Amino acid sequence: MSNRLPVDRVVDEAGNASWKQSPGGLVTALEPVMRAADGAWVGWAGQADLELEPFDNAGIRIVPVPLSEADLEEYYEGFSNDTLWPLYHDVIAQPGYHRVWWERYVQVNRRFADATARVSAPGATVWVQDYQLQLVPAMLRERRPDLLIGFFNHIPFPAYGIFSQLPWRGQIIDGLLGADVVGFQRVADAGNFSRAVRRLRGYTTKTPYIEVPGTDAVPARRVIAKAFPISIDVAGFQELAESPEVQARARQIRADLGDPETIMLGVDRLDYTKGIGHRLKAFGELLAEGRLKVEDVTLVQVATPSRERVESYRQLRDEIELTVGRINGDYGTISHQAISYLHHGFPREEMAALYLAADVMLVTALRDGMNLVAKEYVAARSDEDGVLILSEFTGASDELRAALLVNPHDIDGVKDAILRAIEMPRQERRKRMRSLRRRVAENDVTHWSDSFLATLRNTRGPGGWAG
Ligand code: G6P
Repeated sequence: MSNRLPVDRVVDEAGNASWKQSPGGLVTALEPVMRAADGAWVGWAGQADLELEPFDNAGIRIVPVPLSEADLEEYYEGFSNDTLWPLYHDVIAQPGYHRVWWERYVQVNRRFADATARVSAPGATVWVQDYQLQLVPAMLRERRPDLLIGFFNHIPFPAYGIFSQLPWRGQIIDGLLGADVVGFQRVADAGNFSRAVRRLRGYTTKTPYIEVPGTDAVPARRVIAKAFPISIDVAGFQELAESPEVQARARQIRADLGDPETIMLGVDRLDYTKGIGHRLKAFGELLAEGRLKVEDVTLVQVATPSRERVESYRQLRDEIELTVGRINGDYGTISHQAISYLHHGFPREEMAALYLAADVMLVTALRDGMNLVAKEYVAARSDEDGVLILSEFTGASDELRAALLVNPHDIDGVKDAILRAIEMPRQERRKRMRSLRRRVAENDVTHWSDSFLATLRNTRGPGGWAG
């Protein structure tokens, strides 16, 4: 179960609707698992007021949950993306606390839980994905105590001092504790969650276990809270990047940019957590100080449109586009643009070509659950070249220690890292990229889903304790 279904609805010119599998690691990883298990995927079809019966798509049962325009405004844009998202990303933007948003979040979570309770076979395994659905585990357990329930949080789980701001913090904790296994990206996230459970509910925790006491009606249970760092389809991505078409396209991109000495690349959803402004500031200062020349270095910034009806995202777009315009206006020439700014999404093939074309990859997120762009860049580089600059505030930095790690708030530090990356000798680049590639290869997305599901099943299997 996830807020969005793994398929996108496409309508052709004649008005005929069909379904296309969404790109992205989660779908790639879970698709074979779902098919083998005769599974169903419960989620929203991506448009308001679309009432659809369940249907089969490529061997997976699709169970759409309808969302009205008001649900979108209050549950999705409001509570999910204007309360939880900024709060869980360390209050980079101010979260809005509105009781009507919360009430709608409860209602919609109940709708997801009901839909799932209806389609799940006796004793089935249910895996709930992400912060939009944190109340579902307990709601589902209440209706269907026979189910095995897992939850995975794709975004950070904040420290108690921040989490405790949330007026409905206790309800969220109770919601999550309805799961048998609660998974997080980083060890630190799992620790923050356990601490919140102790502080708010006083339950005993002994890593990775949380003891939930019973009542007259329900027996005591044990919940596992643990890190399962997510990854990408490493082999698939590498294969794509090795294809002659993608390699040719990478050469074409370099040529189209005028074959500069260095191409730097940023790829992000246009989101205030990504530190795009910090990156632009560092780059702009280097140009202003003459330490970089527009003839030698180009920055390609892909900013995929996201959550455009939320005010903070609109503001961010204005700020970023103003900054890009200023830098290009101040330092660009007729033949050389400082920044090539692209406000759209691209297919995987084009992304792979961009990664191959880029000498330096810039990931400067202020806070990020994992950051899969960093892992994609590494997976694409079977030539063992390219330098990754990576924020220490991403989950990926736990694993990708051979990157040039930066604190994106420290603009001088980012500038130094950029210069160091540009000047890095081939031998050091190769050594670092090899080490990064080893790490990424060890843990692909199938490993992630297999280990989560194995942990979940073990809670019931021989020697298990749940049930
Ligand atoms: C993050 C979240 C996902 C979400 C995605 C895109 O990666 O963890 O749950 O689906 O952003 O955001 P959107 O609001 O478009 O679903």
